[in-house]
Amino acid sequence: MTNSLKETIEAVRKSFLTALDSFPSDTHEIEVLKSSYFGRKGELAKLYAQMGSISHEDRPNAGKAINALKEECSRLFEEQEKKYITPDSTQTDQLDYTLPGEAQRLGSKHPISKTLQEVKDIFTSVGFHIAYGPEVDDDYHNFTALNFPEHHPARDMQDTFFVQKDVVLRTHTSNVQIHLMENSEPPLRYIVPGRVYRNEAISFKSYCLFHQVEALVVDKNISFGDLKGTLEYFVKRVFGSSVTMRFRPSFFPFTEPSAEVDIWDEKRGQWLEILGCGMVDPAVFENVGYDPKVWHGYAFGLGIERIAMLKYGISDIRLFFQNDKRFLDQF
Ligand code: PHE
Repeated sequence: MTNSLKETIEAVRKSFLTALDSFPSDTHEIEVLKSSYFGRKGELAKLYAQMGSISHEDRPNAGKAINALKEECSRLFEEQEKKYITPDSTQTDQLDYTLPGEAQRLGSKHPISKTLQEVKDIFTSVGFHIAYGPEVDDDYHNFTALNFPEHHPARDMQDTFFVQKDVVLRTHTSNVQIHLMENSEPPLRYIVPGRVYRNEAISFKSYCLFHQVEALVVDKNISFGDLKGTLEYFVKRVFGSSVTMRFRPSFFPFTEPSAEVDIWDEKRGQWLEILGCGMVDPAVFENVGYDPKVWHGYAFGLGIERIAMLKYGISDIRLFFQNDKRFLDQF
């Protein structure tokens, strides 16, 4: 065997023994040390790699010498490792049972869940039932049956996420108005909480996904006054009686007349819209086979994020969807 290989083997041996002298106590560092000698690119592998350049007659001896080194190193390494992994029995019972326990932190409810729960509680306390409907729906229930004209801009690719032609992620919870009326006879008094999706420009007050609570009331002799009274009652229960609100005339294809409700946002010094509403359009009743001469109704759709923003003074809707613990810990 050449002298230079002998020297190399000896050098590896020495450096290994030195490394063992300061054997690490951390599992990760132990792994690092292990692979720096025994790994695929470790010191021992490097020695084996030199075998190729050794003459035929020298090879058996060289092989033996490296094998011996490997065995020696493995044995020593394992001894050290064992010491670390199984601490000796005098040290095992070090748990001090008298120490106070570690408190487990309780999680908290997401502000959207909290607001949603509060809205549900308010409406169920005054006689509304809760219903749910599909988030993926056909164009008919999301648009056509709600009296959206063929080329209404809301059907545009800009606002709607299409799953396939004629199948959409619902853009509002109003699709459930149609399902409810198709499946039951009036009178009806429902709220419908759920997620809705819009392919819109994202900003502090608009996100591609948000939550609505729809309401639908159908009965004989329902008037716009009933709608106004219900909404004023609701808004005062959520925001307190000193809230500043306004009804603003608006347009929806499925209600006539239609309005939106804005709440004065003290923090920003501006109005923030929280819902759309109106009297159910007779054309919608006809689409579901209700006689518009007999039945009247109102509907509204509340934006839960907007209500939560006002309630908790949150300035950016995107915070609800980022799951930042620093934000969520405050609720
Ligand atoms: N669906 C409407 C929207 O998402 C809100 C609305 C619901 C308006 C019910 C009137 C009646 O903007």
